[in-house]
Amino acid sequence: MKIKFSLVVILFLATSRLIGQTTDNCVTQVLLTGYSEKAYTSVPVTDQQIDLILKCGIRAPSARNNQPWRFTVIKDEATMKEAIDNTVPGNVLIIVSGIESQSGTTPDFDCGLATGNMFTAAHGLGLGARIYGSPAGKINSSKELFQIPPGYKAVVVLRIGNVDKSVDAVSGATPRKNPEEIINYKN
Ligand SMILES: Cc1cc2nc3c(=O)[nH]c(=O)nc-3n(C[C@H](O)[C@H](O)[C@H](O)COP(=O)(O)O)c2cc1C
Repeated sequence: MKIKFSLVVILFLATSRLIGQTTDNCVTQVLLTGYSEKAYTSVPVTDQQIDLILKCGIRAPSARNNQPWRFTVIKDEATMKEAIDNTVPGNVLIIVSGIESQSGTTPDFDCGLATGNMFTAAHGLGLGARIYGSPAGKINSSKELFQIPPGYKAVVVLRIGNVDKSVDAVSGATPRKNPEEIINYKN
């Protein structure tokens, strides 16, 4: 009886793993239903959530595995507002900075991959997230205020927060170009 049960469990795990490779799974669901939230509640993002999101950023691939990024976590409301004026208490900003002088590398691109990982991780945890490029100039002219490490420059800011779950992904989403417009196949 015990052996029979174990066999059923093994079979179930094996098939669900195979199915997971070819059909919808939690990662594709997050990617296909996510959008960049603009409205946040003041429910605080927890330190555990931020730690996990940062771990996902650190796991991003980078050219030559240079990992040319630094992440500055901002929770202080006044400093957050210096970067993005409509932040609310409970939001957390992660400034993603890239190394300034390293020829032959692609820090901005690599920072983009790390930011993408963290954006997806935040959504996977049921949080809202939005990437901001516009505050980078202001941050780079006040690096001390934002504690950007020497030799690095801000590339983007990732805003993370809790969101009102009644906003559905369809009404919140921005449309995308048709696949026919942007994908071509050479058969
Ligand atoms: C590199 C980058 C920079 C962005 N900068 C800003 C910004 O400065 N301000 C802003 O409101 N949104 C910004 N966004 C968010 C985009 O406007 C948003 O992702 C896009 O319109 C698609 O919307 P969706 O993610 O909700 O589908 C940025 C996104 C990226 C990837």
